[in-house]
Amino acid sequence: MRIDKHPILEFAREKKITIYYEGQPVTAYEGESITAALHAAGITTLSESFRFHRPRGLYCAIGKCASCIMEVDGVPNMRTCIIPVKEGMRVKPQSKSVVSPESFTGYPEFKETPTVETDFAVVGGGPAGLSAALYAARYGIKPLIIEENFLLGGQLIKQTHKFFGSRSHYAGVRGIDIAGILIKDARKKEIETWTSSSVIGYYPGNILGVERQGKYVRVKAKTILIATGASEKMVPFIGNDLPGVYGAGAIQTLMNVYGITPGKKVLMVGAGNIGAIVAYQLLQAGVEVAAVIEGLPRIGAYLVHSAKIKRLGVPIYTSHTISRVFGSSRVEGAEVVEVDKQWQPIAGTEKKFDCDTVGLAVGLSPSIEILSQAGARQTYIPELGGYINPHNENMETSLPGVFIAGDISGIEEASSAMMEGRIAGLSAAEKVSGGSPELIEEREKNRLELKELREGPFGEKIRIGNQKLEEEARKNGLQ
Ligand SMILES: Cc1cc2nc3c(=O)[nH]c(=O)nc-3n(C[C@H](O)[C@H](O)[C@H](O)COP(=O)(O)OP(=O)(O)OC[C@H]3O[C@@H](n4cnc5c(N)ncnc54)[C@H](O)[C@@H]3O)c2cc1C
Ligand code: FES
Repeated sequence: MRIDKHPILEFAREKKITIYYEGQPVTAYEGESITAALHAAGITTLSESFRFHRPRGLYCAIGKCASCIMEVDGVPNMRTCIIPVKEGMRVKPQSKSVVSPESFTGYPEFKETPTVETDFAVVGGGPAGLSAALYAARYGIKPLIIEENFLLGGQLIKQTHKFFGSRSHYAGVRGIDIAGILIKDARKKEIETWTSSSVIGYYPGNILGVERQGKYVRVKAKTILIATGASEKMVPFIGNDLPGVYGAGAIQTLMNVYGITPGKKVLMVGAGNIGAIVAYQLLQAGVEVAAVIEGLPRIGAYLVHSAKIKRLGVPIYTSHTISRVFGSSRVEGAEVVEVDKQWQPIAGTEKKFDCDTVGLAVGLSPSIEILSQAGARQTYIPELGGYINPHNENMETSLPGVFIAGDISGIEEASSAMMEGRIAGLSAAEKVSGGSPELIEEREKNRLELKELREGPFGEKIRIGNQKLEEEARKNGLQ
């Protein structure tokens, strides 16, 4: 359902258009993704699983899980959550076979592959990538931002809460407005930006393979930043692939970017910051929240976030996990169970919830695929979210001239992603143009600010993770 009135957001919906789902007209608005328009029309089953033909729906809404792939204007395997609607567009679920032979129009053209050269290729236009490009551009080098979504801003574009910290971390400003500031600054600086462009491979000599709106392009870069963010984790339970089970970030995208509610009543799994924030945002959008459940014996969210939802009457059950969802084509209810200290279900404690949506806010994993393919060193650090690429204090990985910043270098938040992006951008500029005392001073200032940001009890896990990462970097000769 489309949200008409929201306490914080306004949804433009300026131009009405028509797309076709299996030949049937669906009303959409320019600027929406295909899945957003289909959800608004009540179409939540997007495809079927290849083997058992189980229904598949939206899960991540940021192009990272392939749960939404459909045939779009005859081209199969399109991630419909990151493709904008266009007048007359024809979409079809992919079922029974991967490609319907009669409509397959061919693979992207590989014969004459153009090569574009750049000082600094920035992969990912989220807070880390945008900050890196902006800071590098201050020192005269020309960045190229490559972003696979049709929208810039990464996860910031759905965050309606105000940020903490200092002025330089945009304290008191909503995430969505911070994204607006960074994008405006990038436009003012005339930073070249390719949207709807996915980096699909890294090759020796700092060459990236890019699929740019159906064409293959090679980018040869003096320096590269990989700022691809993170993807949401899943939990095992019966029916976890049913439409109506969403990552919490996907719920945020539907509600806060497109103004579409995911359902009428939601069970949220995970009482960390993202679970608590999204539960509150659901209430703001007029959606009922049945409960928030948390496997740990304590609530992980900051008190400011958890207190808000408790005040509004949402129960939070700690030491509980989800055991199953009910329904055959969409979620029609859920069962949760109490767990002991070893996370084992306690028989007889099952509770059923009446709900049509389940949100999973159970953590994020860094998106390191490009660097894994490139052969960069990696190590497992649970405190930072999983596999991470060791890097030096300039954010440079084991591949010379290849930097990382943001969630890919450890799951934190947008403020630290911006700080790391600035450090990586300045270091890339130093590598390309030789650096200057001002650049070094500016980088040192950002390093200190990042350290301050991580001080205090909430930064403890990150500090432990980063100590392990530094140790690993030293072992690999990177420090
Ligand atoms: C789902 C989700 C919800 C979150 N919700 C909150 C919240 O409510 N509050 C909060 O404080 N923090 C939240 N965070 C954390 C915070 O938003 C992140 O720490 C921050 O956005 C990280 O910035 P980033 O630039 O590293 O990554 P992102 O903001 O994720 O940006 C990465 C960008 O890279 C692009 N990309 C990925 N792969 C490719 C590729 N191969 N080619 C081209 N482009 C690519 C993506 O499309 C994306 O735009 C959330 C994070 C996630 C993943
Ligand atoms: S890739 Fe579209 S929902 Fe995950």
